[in-house]
Amino acid sequence: MKDYKNVVIFNHPLIRHKIAILRNEKTSMKEFRELVEEITTLMTYECLREGVPTEKVMVKTPLETCEQEVVSDNAIAIIPILRAGLGMVNGIHVLFPTARVGHIGMYRDEETFEPKEYYCKLPEGIEEKLCLVVDPMLATGGSACDAISQLKARGCKNIRFMAIIGAPEGVSKVAEAHPDVQIYVSTLDRQLNEHAYILPGLGDAGDRLFGTK
Ligand code: PRP
Ligand code: URA
Repeated sequence: MKDYKNVVIFNHPLIRHKIAILRNEKTSMKEFRELVEEITTLMTYECLREGVPTEKVMVKTPLETCEQEVVSDNAIAIIPILRAGLGMVNGIHVLFPTARVGHIGMYRDEETFEPKEYYCKLPEGIEEKLCLVVDPMLATGGSACDAISQLKARGCKNIRFMAIIGAPEGVSKVAEAHPDVQIYVSTLDRQLNEHAYILPGLGDAGDRLFGTK
């Protein structure tokens, strides 16, 4: 895969450790959900290292009053791509409990692998917020590209995308279609199979999170 300026691949040992458990077909639904949340929290820490809207506040310690910096309330929106993106929301909410959540519902057509949008509800004032679009799987990149285009059509200018596992094809597609969007991927897998599933991957993330088939 090309070296894209707007792509960060984590390759962090703590995240690699958790992803190894996540991939295992024997990992229970409960543990799978917990791991998705934990990995998301670790990713968010890095994803929000720069460019987060903050403001100055005065804080009175037991000894004196000092000026401090806090993240602006209501500055961040989480946009999970349904369904599997829902599994990442709590991982960000533990850091920013007041973040509003917008939902974009998409499923992949099983024959064409093209995303079909079936739902979209976004928080008021979304165009002013830092939008974190989340989906554990970035396979062909179709769902992520469409979700990001949907946000841009609503006037959003500050968009970041986080996926736990990416395929080279999908990462390239999003990076090239949306060069202004920073893309964070925990690990880059080898390839897609003939059904556009990621190899080695972890299977169907939505099914493993929610216990469906
Ligand atoms: C999965 C996954 C992504 C999409 C990735 O969702 O959660 O949204 O596929 O594939 P792409 O990069 O090729 O678009 P799916 O369509 O299976 O729906 P689900 O989350 O409801 O299971
Ligand atoms: N969606 C998934 O859940 N898994 C894949 O490997 C590809 C798309």
